[in-house]
Amino acid sequence: MFERQFSRTARSAALHRAAHQAMERGAIFRDPFACAILGLTPQEAAAEEGADESRRRMRLFIAARARFAEDKLIDAVNRGVRQAVVLGAGLDTFALRNPHADVGLRVFEVDHPDTQAWKRERLAMMKVAAPAGLTFAPVDFERDDLAAGLATAGFDRTQPAFFIWLGVTPYLTPQAALATLGAIAAVPGAEVAFDYTEGREKYQGEARQFHDELLARVAAVGEPIIGAFAPQELAAELAALGMTEQEDLDAPAIVERYFGAPAASGRRSSAGHLIWARRPL
Ligand SMILES: C[S@@+](CC[C@H](N)C(=O)[O-])C[C@H]1O[C@@H](n2cnc3c(N)ncnc32)[C@H](O)[C@@H]1O
Repeated sequence: MFERQFSRTARSAALHRAAHQAMERGAIFRDPFACAILGLTPQEAAAEEGADESRRRMRLFIAARARFAEDKLIDAVNRGVRQAVVLGAGLDTFALRNPHADVGLRVFEVDHPDTQAWKRERLAMMKVAAPAGLTFAPVDFERDDLAAGLATAGFDRTQPAFFIWLGVTPYLTPQAALATLGAIAAVPGAEVAFDYTEGREKYQGEARQFHDELLARVAAVGEPIIGAFAPQELAAELAALGMTEQEDLDAPAIVERYFGAPAASGRRSSAGHLIWARRPL
């Protein structure tokens, strides 16, 4: 990210979620604050989103990843987890919607300090007070110690926690991504839901063209995609960290679960994945 400016890709992801409310009526992921946090009406969000096919695919992927993470969080809460950490939160509105507040789920939002400051301005403009169970923790994953940042915010590292980490790994160096996974896995009973991409060469056909356009677009706003994982290597890294329970959805599996289409129609043209991992107690 360019110094002293908020993440432009965080705004893009938020716009996709807002447009999803208007264009697909939130069919995959319902978020009543998605438009308001951007200061847009649903019509304005849809107009800014436009009718481009590559944007439609990204919008549905972003809706699916949020749904995946929040569905997994429901399972975790049912298992007794009472701490959620949203890493690289951007304009994610989970903390505003927290459907588990009544059972005492605390939420920690971690983000780059510049983006978090902007998020807090956006909340102030919405005239929404930060919910009682929400604590902000400014952390730069490339420079700061995540565990220390969370400890300062009052996170209890002796208790299980669920980490939501969406749209962040592509923007991190492998060292920062693995250090973040290490900090997550150090928490007994930790769970994480995140998305990742395989290398550019794994995209096929039209999806390769859309991916190349994305690479150019995000590089131009100072947030180049530098992080990719190979599924088997990532599975091994997670297992080595003790996160032995895993579920990894590739493009066909995402299509089947969230878009109501046969897995075959997802082909393996896209190389984006959703993954959940847990370190059993
Ligand atoms: C594409 S946005 C995703 C935002 C949000 N998770 C979502 O899905 O809407 C990328 C996020 O990663 C954060 N990020 C990128 N590099 C970071 C770093 N080195 N330290 C902390 N956060 C970082 C950005 O501030 C931004 O919030």
